[in-house]
Amino acid sequence: MDLFEYQARDMFEAHGVPVLAGVVADTVEGVRAAAEQIGPRSGGVVVVKAQVKTGGRGKAGGVKVATSPDEAAAAGEAILGMDIKGHTVHRVMIAQGAKIAEEYYFSVLLDRANRTYLAMCSKEGGMEIEQLAVERPEALARVAVDPNTGIDTAKAQEIVDAAGFDTETGAKIVPVLERLWEVYRDEDATLVEVNPLVKTEDGEVVALDGKVTLDGNADFRHTEHAALEDKAAADPLEAAAAEKGLNYVKLDGSVGIIGNGAGLVMSTLDVVAYAGEQVPGQPKPANFLDIGGGASAEVMANGLGIILGDPQVKAVFVNVFGGITACDEVAKGIVGALDTLGDAATKPLVVRLDGNNVEEGRRILAERDHPLVTIEATMDGAAAKAAELAAK
Ligand SMILES: Nc1ncnc2c1ncn2[C@@H]1O[C@H](COP(=O)(O)OP(=O)(O)OP(=O)(O)O)[C@@H](O)[C@H]1O
Ligand SMILES: [Mg+2]
Repeated sequence: MDLFEYQARDMFEAHGVPVLAGVVADTVEGVRAAAEQIGPRSGGVVVVKAQVKTGGRGKAGGVKVATSPDEAAAAGEAILGMDIKGHTVHRVMIAQGAKIAEEYYFSVLLDRANRTYLAMCSKEGGMEIEQLAVERPEALARVAVDPNTGIDTAKAQEIVDAAGFDTETGAKIVPVLERLWEVYRDEDATLVEVNPLVKTEDGEVVALDGKVTLDGNADFRHTEHAALEDKAAADPLEAAAAEKGLNYVKLDGSVGIIGNGAGLVMSTLDVVAYAGEQVPGQPKPANFLDIGGGASAEVMANGLGIILGDPQVKAVFVNVFGGITACDEVAKGIVGALDTLGDAATKPLVVRLDGNNVEEGRRILAERDHPLVTIEATMDGAAAKAAELAAK
């Protein structure tokens, strides 16, 4: 889960990372009130910042400096409702204005390719870091971080040295990196990025922006993280699927996909996308849904219920290779879901079953002989049929 900047700010503060005051508002009047509250701490200057989970807010006009509550309100008026790369701004953060002397960059993230963590740091932070990484990679220090020891004082020193900071500035940054590492470790993050990390005119090092990605696999250790979820933005189908414990991802196409095992479902998406190219309208997969190993009839029925509830879906492809999963359970789930839906079931289903208990599974489907269900023997044949039905 990605956090909003204001959530990252609060998390930083809780771990002792130096941040500036910040208050969230979702109305112009709220922005004015926040500016009245925060402005006096920084000579009346505040920064109104769009809260959206995408980068490049500044360049898109989503970060504005204001020198009075009136100006802040005008900035809020301009930014609230703005679209930034497809994200509508529903909230802004009113931050205390910083007197910036220099802007730096720091991040720590999960480096999957090298099976370790990676810290990146640069003296040249700000809005162009991606460009810097491409054009002058030597200006962006990359230091591997051992998960067992993390960023202790020595490692933090190594990072600031690699980035080329002078002794005095380095000494100011080291403790901040240690605190940021604590955020990364203690919150089970896969990314903590600060761009810019600034030195103010009075020599203090402050995190002015924050991006944090939390590792969902560690949610069981952090019940408090549930409160950070942006429920309003969650896709209703994805939310319903998550509630039922299903691995579901909504996509843009019209062929609903359900299978067992992430690998099989991924290749089913490919096969359906390919089959779709051969028919008019070029239908594409509508979702990813993995019912997992050993799924019961109930899990199958739940999955089918989610997919059939997607108005974009025109046809569904059920692709099950029974290993631990028994095909008769899958068949019972399909029949059960269709019978529960009754007349509300209107979309054709193409079913390909193979493996564990396949004979019994096919027998159950044949016996029910539902008019919406087509049984296909092969994955390619079933994909072609599903694409054809979706194109109708
Ligand atoms: N509190 C602040 N006081 C003064 N200047 C600020 C403050 N917050 C941000 N800025 C300035 O605005 C610039 C952009 O802000 P920020 O980094 O938060 O947004 P961004 O980088 O455009 O967004 P993103 O990180 O989403 O790409 C910063 O580099 C900094 O110069
Ligand atoms: Mg930034």
